[in-house]
Amino acid sequence: MEIASTIGPALLAHFRQAFGGRPRLFRAPGRVNIIGEHTDYNDGFVLPAALELAVTTAIAPRPDRRLRIASLAMGATVEFDLDDVAPSPRGDWSDYVRGVAIMLQRAGRQLEGADLMIDGDLPMGAGLSASAALEVSVGYALLANSGLDVDRIELAKICQRAENEFVGARCGVMDQFISCCAEAGRAVLLDCRTLEARSIAVDPSARLMVCDTMVRHEIATSEYNLRRADCERAVAALACELHGIVALRDVTLEQLERHEALLSETMFRRARHVIGENARTLRAATALEGGDLFECGRMMDLSHASLRDDYEASCPELDLIVEFAGGVEGVYGSRMMGGGFGGCAISLVDASAVDRFAETVRKAYEDATGTTPSIFCCFPGPGVGPLGS
Ligand code: GLA
Repeated sequence: MEIASTIGPALLAHFRQAFGGRPRLFRAPGRVNIIGEHTDYNDGFVLPAALELAVTTAIAPRPDRRLRIASLAMGATVEFDLDDVAPSPRGDWSDYVRGVAIMLQRAGRQLEGADLMIDGDLPMGAGLSASAALEVSVGYALLANSGLDVDRIELAKICQRAENEFVGARCGVMDQFISCCAEAGRAVLLDCRTLEARSIAVDPSARLMVCDTMVRHEIATSEYNLRRADCERAVAALACELHGIVALRDVTLEQLERHEALLSETMFRRARHVIGENARTLRAATALEGGDLFECGRMMDLSHASLRDDYEASCPELDLIVEFAGGVEGVYGSRMMGGGFGGCAISLVDASAVDRFAETVRKAYEDATGTTPSIFCCFPGPGVGPLGS
């Protein structure tokens, strides 16, 4: 909470200067994902944990039905009417905020007008779910400001709906779920079909290291949507023989191999990644629970190879970081994380190896690419809530 507490006073001061009044503060975290990549929108399994980096929303009521929203990072203020009957996206950061307000109201929550100011320390576009953290912190703040109860699972679903239906990104539910429901010191094995969650303690002797390649590829969103479409096409083709399947979650590896002829070579590899990744995620969760960090790390290494070769969601810089990380003593496993095509990798590391890891990987990556990566160590933080709670 040290990081958030430095954000709080500055945000309060800016809020008072811009809007006056005494706001309340709510923070929602970004996330790491230990394993289970590109499985959430296939009704599969993921194993995320929350970061201590977060988006914080300051909020105070207004007497009318307007939302006035300022972003410190963007240096911009926008205004909306909560009763606007035909809202359309503007194509910028404010769509996440407005989308959440719209979906909350469509879900029957009567919101009240408010002034909001947003700040955070999550890098944007790095694959750490800054957009989900923004949605969730704003959603929680709007509910609290209107005197409404927060159902965390419901809020996660509403925020995902905002992103799918208003912003126009076809993400799964992982990021919003963990930002809402995370527990400090724990990862969550989430069944993205039922939203059944199993909380798993992360061994106190382990650390999660995040390495940001600093690469942001323009193609990330379009390729993400293409991968999702590949998976849907694979399900449609397999359903001709495997009656009743609705997602790749329902297909076994043996069934996939038996019906390979129904699929293009690319579709087959996409499906093989998803089916294998679900199995690896369950194995990794069991290993983490039993304190077998080596087995958990081995699953992460296999996940990376599958994302690189079958799902083609990696990029040369991520492959390099994962390769360098794998050479450091005390590292259990490493993989690209999130949507891919740039952004961050995650490594499961023994606590005693943290400094060696950061130095070695930074130097090797700098020598190979001329770019200094951002590397930080994290231990799972809590989900959304009032700042200072
Ligand atoms: C992004 C999406 C998630 C998930 C991951 C890939 O982070 O927002 O829903 O699909 O990519 O696992």
